[in-house]
Amino acid sequence: MSNLAYEAHIDEDDGEATALRSVRPIPRISIQAFCETEAVAGTVERVGQDRRMMKTHLKVHMGGIATALDFYQTAPTPNLIILESRSEPKDLMDQLHQLSEYCDPATKVIVIGHYNDVGLYRELMRAGVSEYMVAPVTMPEIISVVAGIFVDPEAAPMGHSIAFVGAKGGVGSSTIAHNVAWSISTLFQSEVVVADLDLAFGTANINFDQDPPQGIAEAVFAPDRVDEVYLDRLLTQCAEHLSLLAAPSTLDRTYDFDTDAFSQIIDTAQRSAPILILDLPHVWTGWAKQVLTRADDVVITATPELANLRNAKTMIDMLKKLRPNDAPPKLILNQVGMPKRPEIKPAEFTDPLGIEPVAVIPFDPQIFGQAGNSGRMIGETDAKSPITAQFAEIARVLTGRSEIKAKKQRSLGGLLGRIKRKK
Ligand SMILES: Nc1ncnc2c1ncn2[C@@H]1O[C@H](COP(=O)(O)OP(=O)(O)O)[C@@H](O)[C@H]1O
Ligand SMILES: [Mg+2]
Repeated sequence: MSNLAYEAHIDEDDGEATALRSVRPIPRISIQAFCETEAVAGTVERVGQDRRMMKTHLKVHMGGIATALDFYQTAPTPNLIILESRSEPKDLMDQLHQLSEYCDPATKVIVIGHYNDVGLYRELMRAGVSEYMVAPVTMPEIISVVAGIFVDPEAAPMGHSIAFVGAKGGVGSSTIAHNVAWSISTLFQSEVVVADLDLAFGTANINFDQDPPQGIAEAVFAPDRVDEVYLDRLLTQCAEHLSLLAAPSTLDRTYDFDTDAFSQIIDTAQRSAPILILDLPHVWTGWAKQVLTRADDVVITATPELANLRNAKTMIDMLKKLRPNDAPPKLILNQVGMPKRPEIKPAEFTDPLGIEPVAVIPFDPQIFGQAGNSGRMIGETDAKSPITAQFAEIARVLTGRSEIKAKKQRSLGGLLGRIKRKK
């Protein structure tokens, strides 16, 4: 395990993640970029890898406006063209006028230039260019400009989606998702929707003591019918500010889904509540990967055993790759201190992963069993329990009200540091 520790790095670029936090996903548009420098081309490539751009089709060409001119003599123009140009203002305007002859009137144009010139900016706006950006440009800047053009400013703000998944089955991911959802709804009086995505075996209905006639299956099997009114009929009220999209938890049918199966219901739920908790089963299917990639935050729950560590590591690595511009997934260590079980110590578990856990929750079969069997949340059965306080703290971290508390001494890292210093 010690070799893994060397790979650990916590210096994620949280600045970019923060800059993009409030940007809504970009709709299904086609984008072509024509770049003159590797720097801008590289940044635009990174734009295309962002999860908010997943519905768009983006192609990056090298060669600036001249190449675009050639290209569009025979090809139709897309929804958006991004043009980089190092030309002086006058030449740039001439080239753009030539290009406009081939441009569909509905096509939007963003120009990335190398001259910081107010006169040029005004002239470009008059000519119908949507935005002029001066190089060097950053990835979040480009995404924000694209969002400014294509995301409807009148649209209701999107709720924050948080996906919970276990590093293995049975680690307590669903239990934590439900308790955290309940904490957010009671502590902050904020509307929360819990969606149980484990259609065959989901336990949200048991944990919240509900037996609704309809739920998430209706939405997944009839995605065309899903809108906010329809969603309202599928929701079951569990607490004052908490409602549930319950799983059928029956085996009458099988549940093989397309990659996009949950997109419609998730989009709709995000438009109707400020917080959406997605309770995923421990699977790696096309749809699960899609849901995890597109969620605003991902929380991985693991127990302190080797298989959990291996799985948590592969999941975190993959999610970092799929979500290069987002904060890494959050980690919760659960069922820690089970009697007689040999366990990996929390510090040794988290060091190879390079992330601090949001919480380390003790194994407590009494408290969890009692709440589970009575269909209530731990905050209801044991309001004063330290575990209730832990769920409240997780709720604060996930809603941006509190930061993850770093441990004072990262034991293994400290050890490695000392070894390195001796050399
Ligand atoms: N910290 C804990 N201590 C004791 N039991 C726990 C703890 N966390 C979860 N459990 C229990 O573990 C079982 C599995 O939890 P569940 O949330 O269904 O796991 P998952 O969703 O990861 O499959 C449940 O019976 C739950 O009450
Ligand atoms: Mg579960």
